[in-house]
Amino acid sequence: MNHFQYVNGALFAEDVAIAAIAERVGTPFYCYSTATLTRHYTVFRDALAAAGLDATVCFACKANPNMAVIRTLAELGAGADVVSEGEMRQALAAGVPPGRIVFSGVGKTRHELELAVAKGILQINVESEPELELLSEIAAARGIRMPISLRVNPDVDAGTHAKITTGKKENKFGIEWTRAREVYARANALPGIDVVGVACHIGSQLTELEPFRDAFIRVRDLVAMLRADGVNIRRLDLGGGLGVPYDQEIPPEPKAYAEVIRATLGDLGCRIIVEPGRLLVGNAGILVSRIIYVKEGSTRTFVIVDAAMNDLMRPALYEAHHAIFPVTEPAAGAARIEVDVVGPVCETGDTFAKQRSLPPMRAGELLAFGTAGAYGAAMSSTYNTRPLVPEVMVKGAEFAVVRDRPSYEEMRALESLPAWFKS
Ligand code: LLP
Repeated sequence: MNHFQYVNGALFAEDVAIAAIAERVGTPFYCYSTATLTRHYTVFRDALAAAGLDATVCFACKANPNMAVIRTLAELGAGADVVSEGEMRQALAAGVPPGRIVFSGVGKTRHELELAVAKGILQINVESEPELELLSEIAAARGIRMPISLRVNPDVDAGTHAKITTGKKENKFGIEWTRAREVYARANALPGIDVVGVACHIGSQLTELEPFRDAFIRVRDLVAMLRADGVNIRRLDLGGGLGVPYDQEIPPEPKAYAEVIRATLGDLGCRIIVEPGRLLVGNAGILVSRIIYVKEGSTRTFVIVDAAMNDLMRPALYEAHHAIFPVTEPAAGAARIEVDVVGPVCETGDTFAKQRSLPPMRAGELLAFGTAGAYGAAMSSTYNTRPLVPEVMVKGAEFAVVRDRPSYEEMRALESLPAWFKS
C-alpha cells in the first residue's frame, strides 16, 4: 500500500500532482511520501508489539540517508542502523537520539569507532576480532565499557540475489558461526567491552520466512550456549532484509515475520532490535523522469528518458525490476507496445527495462519508476558528470525539496587545477 495513485487521470503523491512538482523542480527527481513512510513504520512496529516483543526499530539509513526521511521515521520513534561516520552524523543531525543508534559494518575505522564511543550510541555490532581488540582499547582509554553485540554469520542461504546475500560463511560478514563461542569468551574478558547481545543479518529482499527462521533458531542455540558460559546476553539484533513487492513477488507480511521472531526467540527475555531498510522506504519513493526521445529501431522501440543508471543503478547492477508507469494515466483498454526504456548514459547497461509493455508514449511525457525509495538516491552517482537529482518530500497537500540539484559550479567546487597549468 502506498500513496502514489492516479486521481482523475493524473499521478499524485498524496494530494500533490507529480506533474506540478516536475514543473517546479525539473526532471529527473525522487519523490517520497510521508504518509507511506508513516504507514510502513507503524504497521511494522505494531506487528512486533502485537507479537508481545520488546522491540526497537532501527531504520537502516543506507537505504535512504536523506535527513527528512530519517527525521520522519525518528519522530515516529525509530532509531537508526548506521554503517559509516557519514550515516552516523546524518542520523544525529536528523534528531535520532544516540541511545537509539546501532553501528554495523565490516570495516569500521579507528576514527569511526572513537566517534561512536564518544557519542554514546546504543551499541556497536562488531564483525571481527581485530575490531573487537581495537574497540576495547579505545573504550578502555576513556574508562568505559562499550556495549556490543557480535555479528555472527549463521551460514544460511537467504535465497536472494548473490550481490546482496550476507549470511553464508563465504560472505565477508560477521564472525563464523563455528567460532562464535570462542570469540564471545574473548570479548567478555576485554576491559573496554560490555557484551550485551548477538547480531545477525542474512541478506536483503528476502521473500520467504524460512531463512529467517533457520537463522533465528541458530541464534537461539547460541544464546543458550553463551548463557551457559556466563555471558549476559540481553539484546538480539536481527538485522533487516524483509522484502517488498517490485514485480510479482509476494513477500511475507510484517505480522508473519514478527510471529517467526516470537516463536523462535520470544521467550528469551531479550530486547529485540530490527534494522529494516527497504521495507520502510522502498515503496515510499518514486523516481520521475521525462521522455527525451522515442527512437524506432528495426527490431525495437527505445524510450529514451532523462534519468539514467547513475540516478537509479539497481537495474544495471542487479538486473532489478522496477515498475514503470506514465504520470498521465492511460485510458482504460489503451493499446500497449513493448519498448526498451533506456537512459542517456554511454553504456548499454544503462537500461531500465527491456521489452516492457507500456502504452505508446511521446517525447515530453513523464514516466515514474516505482519502489525507488530504497537504494535509489542512496546509490546514485555523478557518472557522465550528471548532477545528483533532487529529492522531494510530500506531506498531504504540501511538498518540499529536501535535497537540491547542485549547479555545475557546485559540482566542480572541490576540484582544482594544479599550479603547473598556467592560466
Ligand atoms: N542491516 C544490515 C547489517 C545490512 O547490511 C542491511 C542491508 C540492512 C540492515 C538493511 O537491509 P534491508 O532491510 O534494506 O533489506 N543495494 C541493494 C541492497 C543492499 C543491502 C545491504 N545491507 C539493493 O539495492 O537491493
